[in-house]
Amino acid sequence: MLVTLVLQKPFAPAPDLAAQELAAAERLQRVGTVALREATRELRTGQQVYQAACMACHAAGVVGAPKFGDAAAWAPRIGAGLERLVTSTLQGKGAMGAQGGGAFSDFEIKRAVVYLANAGGGNFPEPVAPDATAAPAPQQ
Ligand code: HEC
Repeated sequence: MLVTLVLQKPFAPAPDLAAQELAAAERLQRVGTVALREATRELRTGQQVYQAACMACHAAGVVGAPKFGDAAAWAPRIGAGLERLVTSTLQGKGAMGAQGGGAFSDFEIKRAVVYLANAGGGNFPEPVAPDATAAPAPQQ
């Protein structure tokens, strides 16, 4: 709606101002679209994320990935704590690329980490879903 208002101003502002307003409107529209997509999309379970994004390496333990269900490989990592594991997964570690910029939210990645770590002997509680009605975090 804001986009429409900006574009339908009756007077013609100086070209550089018009371009600025258009850029601002486009930015707003993009942020709105992202927020909407995040809000309406159903959150994936840890298992769904694992199958879509993690299994490729962790099922067979390729490129040095701790293998799914391998308690010996997971014990020292689990000992480092859940936050450590989530951070590693979001930012990437060793041969594992950053997973945070992909198709999944940080929360979904956390679920996948819990799923994977618990299969390897961990006992992390299922992460609590973020409140869908809460205002979205400010976007940059
Ligand atoms: C490209 C292959 C690859 C993919 C895809 C991948 N991983 Fe990994 N993962 C690795 C490797 C290799 C390591 C070992 C990194 C190291 O310790 O050097 C690792 C380590 C980890 C660790 C332990 C981190 C730590 O701090 O010890 C967690 C947790 C983990 N992965 C979770 C995931 C999750 C969840 C996904 C899917 C969202 C995923 N990984 C996808 C290769 C992968």
